[in-house]
Amino acid sequence: MANTPTTAKLTIGADSYDFPVRKGTIGPDVVDISDLYKKTGRFTFDPGFTSTAACDSAITYIDGDKGELLYCGYPIEQLAEKGNFLETCYLLLHRELPTKEEFAAFNKAITYHTMLHEQMNRFYSGFRRDAHPMAVMVGVVGALSAFYHDSTDIQDAHQRMVASHRMIAKMPTIAAMAFKYHIGQPFNYPRNDHDYASNFLQMCFRVPCEDYKVNPVLAKAMDRIFILHADHEQNASTSTVRLAGSSGANPFACIAAGIACLWGPAHGGANEAALQMLQEIGTVENIPAFLAKVKDKNEHTRLMGFGHRVYKNYDPRAKVMQKTCHEVLATMGKHDDPLLHVAMELERIALSDDYFLSRKLYPNVDFYSGITLKAMGFPTSMFTALFALARTVGWIAQWTEMIEDPAQRIGRPRQLYTGAVRRDYAPLDQRA
Ligand code: CMC
Repeated sequence: MANTPTTAKLTIGADSYDFPVRKGTIGPDVVDISDLYKKTGRFTFDPGFTSTAACDSAITYIDGDKGELLYCGYPIEQLAEKGNFLETCYLLLHRELPTKEEFAAFNKAITYHTMLHEQMNRFYSGFRRDAHPMAVMVGVVGALSAFYHDSTDIQDAHQRMVASHRMIAKMPTIAAMAFKYHIGQPFNYPRNDHDYASNFLQMCFRVPCEDYKVNPVLAKAMDRIFILHADHEQNASTSTVRLAGSSGANPFACIAAGIACLWGPAHGGANEAALQMLQEIGTVENIPAFLAKVKDKNEHTRLMGFGHRVYKNYDPRAKVMQKTCHEVLATMGKHDDPLLHVAMELERIALSDDYFLSRKLYPNVDFYSGITLKAMGFPTSMFTALFALARTVGWIAQWTEMIEDPAQRIGRPRQLYTGAVRRDYAPLDQRA
């Protein structure tokens, strides 16, 4: 890469303009066009931001062609195998893995922020029982800003940190309460003698009438699922959080915006959609007919849990998820779940089918996460809420990075206007 150019030339008609080329530590260089409009009077056009870097970031790196995901340089597979979610949170927030002392202090800070203001419990009864947990999450997380006034000043580094700890700590409580409300069971308070994932499981599955002991295999799987979903660079919901935050909105409001964006089926809602798809297919014999529908342009059917905007290879999270799926199903005595057979056969066929190979469509993290979560006892409606819980730390890390970036400005994309040109208003009785 010795001769990589440091400037890029843009020629428009007879005029030429130079733009600096900037280098990251890894990944493609970027052409810095931030003064393109000033120099040329033109904008770039990039719907879906497929070729646009909107910020500097030192948190997460994806090599979509290789199928690689790094959190602050650490491969996701190593963190999922050897680490735990809370140290991953520390890593994303501080860019370094914690020492023993740092981890103990961080663990304590999170553990002692897990309870919700008691008055917040009443919000839940304002929702219909059949409300989607994501609808509840958007509302309750946004409402945190009405309760924790001492951590909404975004210019104060200490308040930013307290807000971060509060959200990482309270999100499991909020999600578990959304779940309990949804199924008509009483809320469970957090337990400070449990680790992060075990505490979440006990808040979800403990009932007052019997003892509940957290299954360590499920706790490990839950923790791993949280690690896999913790951050994913500038995806739609993270970009939403950054855009909301760029106006100076408080962190709780920004994370609520991220949750709203994550809800969509092309993003966080995909694991719910993938499981529904597997249920619809039902048995292995129905796979060819389903794949024929996927390939038929008139059907508008997609193989959910397949394909990714950035990964044009196997999503590295999907490999870890597949292993976790087998472990969970085995421990729950569900290794013969017909859905698992449908998933494995679908994956086998799709990975040798030219339609998928030529479009570089590989399983993504959502392909196996739905079956896994179902086997753990979660209804499909909770899947995206679990994703939101895990992604909260990524959103916060990215939001903090943005606020601390001296180059940060309010986000304001431009457009190619294709509507009517200027015309004069005609009173109603004079319109044709
Ligand atoms: N099934 C069948 N065909 C597909 C699929 C799919 N899942 N995904 C893309 N294609 C086809 C698409 O029809 C198009 O074909 P053609 O060139 O013949 O028109 C081609 O592949 C490119 O599609 P695209 O829509 O331009 O690709 P994209 O990068 O904009 O879309 C995606 C990425 C994730 C929205 C899409 O792959 C998709 O809808 N997948 C299913 C939903 C899903 O699993 N989403 C979870 C993403 S991972 C979780 C996360 O990180 O949020």
